[in-house]
Amino acid sequence: MLTLAVIVLLWPQLTQGSDSLPVKVANAAVIGKLGSSVVLPCWLDPSLDISNMEIRWYRPHKFGKPVLFYRDHKVTTDLQEESYINRSALALREPQSAGLKVGDLSLRLDNLNTDDGGIFHCFVSGVSGYGSAATTLNILVQGSSPVLSVQFKDDFLNVSCSSCGWQPQPRIEWKSNRNTPFRPGGLVYSQAENKLTCVQSWALLSPSFHEVSCSLFITKGDERESTVDIQTISRLMVPAEDGSGFWKALFAVALLAALAMIGVGVFLYGKYKTGYMQAKADEEDQRKDEEDQRKDEEDQRKDEEDQLTVCSKPSITDLRKHAVNITLNSSNVYPDVFINSNRNVVRDRASAAENNKGPGFPYYLSVCGINSFTSGCAYWEVKLTAPSTKPKKSWLIGVTKASHYLNNDKNDLTPSKGFWFLCSDEETGIHINTEPEISLPVNPSLEVVGVFLDYEKGELSFYNAKKDVHLFTMKTKFQGEIVPFFNPGIGDKAPLTINLIESITESRGESAENASA
Ligand SMILES: *[C@@H]1O[C@H](CO)[C@@H](O)[C@H](O)[C@H]1NC(C)=O
Ligand SMILES: *[C@@H]1O[C@H](CO)[C@@H](O)[C@H](O)[C@H]1NC(C)=O
Repeated sequence: MLTLAVIVLLWPQLTQGSDSLPVKVANAAVIGKLGSSVVLPCWLDPSLDISNMEIRWYRPHKFGKPVLFYRDHKVTTDLQEESYINRSALALREPQSAGLKVGDLSLRLDNLNTDDGGIFHCFVSGVSGYGSAATTLNILVQGSSPVLSVQFKDDFLNVSCSSCGWQPQPRIEWKSNRNTPFRPGGLVYSQAENKLTCVQSWALLSPSFHEVSCSLFITKGDERESTVDIQTISRLMVPAEDGSGFWKALFAVALLAALAMIGVGVFLYGKYKTGYMQAKADEEDQRKDEEDQRKDEEDQRKDEEDQLTVCSKPSITDLRKHAVNITLNSSNVYPDVFINSNRNVVRDRASAAENNKGPGFPYYLSVCGINSFTSGCAYWEVKLTAPSTKPKKSWLIGVTKASHYLNNDKNDLTPSKGFWFLCSDEETGIHINTEPEISLPVNPSLEVVGVFLDYEKGELSFYNAKKDVHLFTMKTKFQGEIVPFFNPGIGDKAPLTINLIESITESRGESAENASA
């Protein structure tokens, strides 16, 4: 028995010179994604029935501890390297392959980890001789969704994009309104301690740009992308009081479709053709020349764009076609909450202020709508003003998959726990409940908030409905029932009012009057 083992171990050495089996592998390295499965092709050409031979897949210097070991017509775990137990199998190099009968000894590896990167030897031996070949597996690791931040730099905006956790180095593509790629002003790659790559890039843009996106990818079609609407930001920025420069310096903003949320795919912003953007098209004329050069690339993308079936057209008029009358659910609400008999107005009672002297937002005052969504698109509007009061400062508007919420712990109110919302309080201003939380320099006197839910696309968009401005879109994956979620906050004169469909036109008229008054 011992002799047999020795012979097996020394087999390649002993049989040197009789390397007669024509083993072939892929010319290029095979790429496998972290956590997924991959097939390493290996076959005999000309083909030969190898089902009664011995097959071994092994890592360099680990002949005796194979990744996969096949003999006596079956795969055996006898000598197998422990880390490959239950993770390796013989596979077909193409679906129509007849496997071992035609000399196909390809290897499938599951649940790939970073240690799987490198060389694999594919070895087959029988009475007629042996043969082997080496193939390389590269493990692809997708990094985090890019984080976009915007700074004002003289009359320009410096938009920077950063992301970590990539292997190999990702490619970066900056795009603007019309999906036209442009060159960044700077691009730096660095390696983090975990050997994975970080990327940081920035672009200096004129405020005439609209939505700008930064897309990172190793293979095209598998992007991580974030978008920032710099027009909105510039419009919403507060001018400096001393008049030096247009904007308060360092009013840095990270405004992004928070792709890092649960199981998120790609947000191909370019597919998001908006009437709003088209209206801004004239501002683009100055960049016409540049664009013409890139026409071809653009045309290629057109096809992609057109494939999109949109029920979302981010202009308020179009969104209103999806309007839904939301009725507040008055059961299960906290005694500090008042809901009117029509169930379209919610506010804090006087007792709320007495019970809430501490800092922080009163999340427990939240109420849901009785409406729930499991598909399609829905739009509703929430008014933050009332006649002769200032707009509310303390409020929360969004959706949740929980049917009611009475807890006050902010950590329980994250996208991964089924909450997506925009929240405003004195302390942090207007912010999104992403992880981490992101602040928006939104005009604090926001009067009507439009909420657009596209269930299938996994998008929740917020609008300044009075000004027809898209604020931002959260990208996620909805599962199960989603219900509207509101919180009137504490201490404002104005309540939080749902604009009923019938009253939409009316209330907008009223807002316009207020504005002109
Ligand atoms: C492999 O799978 C079998 C059957 O599912 C299981 O009993 C065994 O514990 C697994 N071994 C390892 C090392 O994961
Ligand atoms: C833009 O911002 C990035 C990162 O914040 C910085 O490295 C770069 O120097 C800035 N560019 C300009 C022109 O200010």
